[in-house]
Amino acid sequence: MTDIVRTVAELRQRCDGWRSRGARIGLVPTMGALHDGHVSLVSQARDAGATHTILTIFVNPTQFGAGEDLDRYPRTFEADLARCNRAGVDLVFAPDAASMYPPGYQTYVHVEGVTQALEGSFRPTHFRGVTTIVAKLFNAVGPCIAAFGRKDYQQWRVIETMVRDLDMPIDVLGCPIVREPDGLALSSRNRYLSTEERRRALCISRGLRRASEAFDAGERSPERLTALVTEDVTSGSDRIDYVSLVDADDLTPITERIERPVTLLVAAHVGNTRLIDNMTFTPA
Ligand code: PAJ
Repeated sequence: MTDIVRTVAELRQRCDGWRSRGARIGLVPTMGALHDGHVSLVSQARDAGATHTILTIFVNPTQFGAGEDLDRYPRTFEADLARCNRAGVDLVFAPDAASMYPPGYQTYVHVEGVTQALEGSFRPTHFRGVTTIVAKLFNAVGPCIAAFGRKDYQQWRVIETMVRDLDMPIDVLGCPIVREPDGLALSSRNRYLSTEERRRALCISRGLRRASEAFDAGERSPERLTALVTEDVTSGSDRIDYVSLVDADDLTPITERIERPVTLLVAAHVGNTRLIDNMTFTPA
C-alpha cells in the first residue's frame, strides 16, 4: 500500500529513515491527474536503481501565470492514489499550497539562459516556479534519482542545469514521451479537449511524425523540417505559439544544416487548451 504524507517534516523523517538503511530514493514530481506517462517515470526511476520511489502530487501555484489554468487544473486524487498503488509507489507526498508557501515565503530559484526562449518567452514566470518547487522537493527528499519526462523537454533541460549548477547530487533522468496509440502525447490537460478538439490536436504529433520521416529520408534543412510541422499544426490548431528547431542539448536555435542532435518543439492552442510536444532527431 502506498502511504500518503502531507508535510515536509513527515516526508523528511520517512526519507531519513530509508536513507539510514541504505535506500536509493527515486523521486517523481507531478501535479497529479496521473496518466501512463507519469507512471512510466516510476518504473524508469526503479530501472535506474531506485530502491524506494516517491511520487509527489502538488499543483504548484508559483508556476502558473495570471490567466492560466491553475483554478481548473484537474484534481483526481483518489484515482491518482489507486494508480500509485498499482505502480508500487512507496510514498505519495501531497502537501497543500499553504504548507509549501506559508505567509512570508520569499525565496525563488532562477535558472538563467535555458529558461529564456520557447516556454519562457510565452510563460515568463513559469520556470522560476518549477525550479523553486523542484528544489524544495529535492531538499525535502534527498533523492539519488529524479525522473522527468521529455514531454516537457525544456523543463527537463532546465532541471538538469539547476542540478549541475547548484551541485545537487542527483541523477536526473529524461524519460521518453508516452503517447496514445494515435500519436497524441499523454497530458493531464488532454482532458480539457472536446471530441472535436481531440481530433484536431493530432495535427501536432502528425506534423512531428512527418518531420521525422523526412529526417529519416535524409532531410537536413532546419527550415524545411520546421515548415513541414508548421503546415500540419496550422491546419489543426487555433493558434501556434512556436515551432522551433533547437540544439537538443542547450536549446539554442539551429539555422545551419543539421549535423548534431536537434529537437523540434511545438506549442499550440486547440480551443482553450495549450498543448506542447516535441521530437528529437539524431543524425547517424
Ligand atoms: P506534470 O505536468 O504533472 O508532469 C509530471 C512529470 O510527468 C513531468 O516530468 C512530465 O514531463 C512528465 N510527463 C507528462 N506527460 C508525459 C508523457 N506523455 N510522457 C512522459 N512523461 C510525461 O511537469 C510538471 O508536472 C511540473 O512542472 C512539476 C515538474 C511537477 C513541478 O511542479
